[in-house]
Amino acid sequence: MTDVHGRTAFITGGGNGIGLGIARSLARAGAKLALVDLDTDALARAKAELEQITPVETYRLDVRDRAAYAAVAAAVEQSLGPVSLLFNNAGVAGGAPAAKLTYDLWDWGIGINLHGVINGIQTFLPGMVARGLGGHIVNTASGAGLAATTSGVLYSTAKFGVVGMSEALNAELGGAGIGVTVLCPGPVATGIIQRSASTSPKAGLVLTEEQKRASAERVAKMTVALNQGVGIDDVGEMVLKAVRENSLYIHTDRVMEAPIKARTKALLDAMPAPAA
Ligand SMILES: NC(=O)c1ccc[n+]([C@@H]2O[C@H](COP(=O)([O-])OP(=O)(O)OC[C@H]3O[C@@H](n4cnc5c(N)ncnc54)[C@H](O)[C@@H]3O)[C@@H](O)[C@H]2O)c1
Repeated sequence: MTDVHGRTAFITGGGNGIGLGIARSLARAGAKLALVDLDTDALARAKAELEQITPVETYRLDVRDRAAYAAVAAAVEQSLGPVSLLFNNAGVAGGAPAAKLTYDLWDWGIGINLHGVINGIQTFLPGMVARGLGGHIVNTASGAGLAATTSGVLYSTAKFGVVGMSEALNAELGGAGIGVTVLCPGPVATGIIQRSASTSPKAGLVLTEEQKRASAERVAKMTVALNQGVGIDDVGEMVLKAVRENSLYIHTDRVMEAPIKARTKALLDAMPAPAA
């Protein structure tokens, strides 16, 4: 169990959406906040809101940039003290049908959704372990990291990686007093689809008219589903509770119940018959 009060929390993608919901919950619980994002307007809004209740520093950081990550981490620890609460949350959604993916799209999707999380771990974990003061890491994956449904090959590849990494970290870090949680949201009401569409690389992506139509339909359907999803402040509270109670998994709803059951059954059914 980790008491967040007085600790320094580092939240990637902290300007909007789920990251902002987490920031609000932690601020109310007395944590100091370092928020990083590419969206500087959102960071300014979050700082104006949250510095009323707790110390807040914001930095423009692309989580793919390892050198910039190290520099920002040093600046944060200088001004707010050692980071012992890490939220690897920044992410993007999108992609293309498997046969139409480009290396630019792979580098973008895996770069942010998987390497961004790796970079957070590489930057902060050694110090967290060396200081011996415990702490907690929350990695934002997705229901798409628990069973492959309709989120596409690119997104599922990264999010399965985040789930696997989190489970392995959890198995290893208990002795160091560092808890690990993997957040696997279903639909959450954020602007991720539109924000991701505006930054995803388009070069070399050639879709047929039918594929363009299907993609637009999928985006429209996902936008409706997300708008009807859980609110960011509710997710923030779920994350705070998981940190306090040291829970490994967070589901924000039961949307993935059937796909997880089907995947588990298929995995078990594929095992050789028990020896007689
Ligand atoms: N919204 C959902 O329904 C949903 C469902 C499952 C998983 N998730 C995951 O939750 C996380 C947060 O998503 P959200 O819905 O809050 O999206 P969001 O777009 O509202 O917030 C994501 C934030 O990350 C920032 N960001 C994007 N690329 C970045 C980069 N390279 N470096 C730093 N910051 C960057 C964006 O500017 C944005 O502020 C993501 O990892 C996403 O995959 C979201």
